[in-house]
Amino acid sequence: MTRERDDVLHSWCIQADWNAPTIVGGEGAHFVDTEGRRYLDMSSLAECMNLGHQHPYVVRAIQRQAEKLCFVTAAWGAEPRATLARRLLELSGFEGGRVYFSLGGADANEHAVKFARQARGLPQGRIVVRDRSYHGASYATMALSGDTRTQAQVDPEAFGAIRVPPPYAYRCPFGSPSDVACGEAAAVAVATAIDAQPDGGVAAVLMEANAGTNGIVAPNNYWPRLREETRSRGVYLIADEVMSGFGRCGEWFAWQRYGEAGRPDLMTLAKGLTGAHVPLGAVVMSADVSARLEHQMLYTGLTYCGHPLACAAGVAALEAYAQEGLIERSRSLGRALYARLKALQHKHSVIGDVRGGDGLFAVIELVLDQATRALHAPWPASPVPLRALVRRAMEHGVSLAIRGNLIILAPPLVIAENDLDDAVDLLDHLLAEFDWT
Ligand SMILES: Cc1ncc(COP(=O)(O)O)c(C=O)c1O
Repeated sequence: MTRERDDVLHSWCIQADWNAPTIVGGEGAHFVDTEGRRYLDMSSLAECMNLGHQHPYVVRAIQRQAEKLCFVTAAWGAEPRATLARRLLELSGFEGGRVYFSLGGADANEHAVKFARQARGLPQGRIVVRDRSYHGASYATMALSGDTRTQAQVDPEAFGAIRVPPPYAYRCPFGSPSDVACGEAAAVAVATAIDAQPDGGVAAVLMEANAGTNGIVAPNNYWPRLREETRSRGVYLIADEVMSGFGRCGEWFAWQRYGEAGRPDLMTLAKGLTGAHVPLGAVVMSADVSARLEHQMLYTGLTYCGHPLACAAGVAALEAYAQEGLIERSRSLGRALYARLKALQHKHSVIGDVRGGDGLFAVIELVLDQATRALHAPWPASPVPLRALVRRAMEHGVSLAIRGNLIILAPPLVIAENDLDDAVDLLDHLLAEFDWT
């Protein structure tokens, strides 16, 4: 009998409410609890298990590395670290750049900001970020996130964060009449925020390229326009690819959808980098950023940066994505998923909007009324029937993720097509079961 409920302080929950099954194994898109119950994982457990559970190739790579060398600090070389850095530079086309390894997404974002500031010669330079964004839960990344639940704990102003409205076309904060106009207005708002700093004090803009963790999917014109505006002002653009990377949005990295017109100066990675088999994050930076840092002292680093076990898992994960054609698979299954969800929108009036679908990442936004787009509860509260729907899905062996009034579907890229179809059938069934008025 597990004592976890009493002994562990769990994140993102009220302790007294935590009452989850203990998971003892998994395979592909399923994981299994102590009672032998199987759950279809429709969120890749926080959008990180892109390769599915217990990917055998990654598991073997970790075992082999553990037998050889578990750890050396970054003061010494390590083969898997060098290999992984080279592969990431090749995949992203950041030739002549460098890779810094972190332990996860939050510290990758913190370090990207440090490097951008140092390279620009603005040690406390300002950083433009979006409302309703999420970049992590360390103090610096809470200051950089537009997450209303954590804002009260930090002083974003003191940290130099400047927030701008998001490219949320369904509820456009600029009142724009179309998706394209909303994307344009949101990019111009960033430019205006940069220009409003009298001393040219903005070091960087930190944003997700396309799909937002908090369910906002930017119109396609947004990111390339943002790139233009930042480049013309000499401000670095940092793409947070922690969630959107590694096939989640149908490309290795979401910005690649726009080709060179979308190339950031730095990008941050975690989650899918090892398919979550071992914690690892990274900052990949351009040749320009690297050249500016080349002869400067870096007063930063964490003991486990570039841990060999994690890097070996990363090398194996990249091979698995490529060998199994998972980026392309995510793209084609993502399109099919989107089409099915759009069909559900015609059937269920509670579905206000369906977004995403460029890869296996789709957002369903629930509303009280399709015409007025009224919410059941103010963001980020989740409507009571939606929470009940999640519990019912669990009883049917399907694990669903929700945020506020959103259902976020982001299964492992290895999910079987019939499992994906079954999950959408179940959703269809459950949406009809509850009273949404
Ligand atoms: C876009 C984005 N950035 C950063 C983070 C933080 O990553 P981590 O939890 O590994 O610190 C997350 C995690 O959900 C994320 O989705």
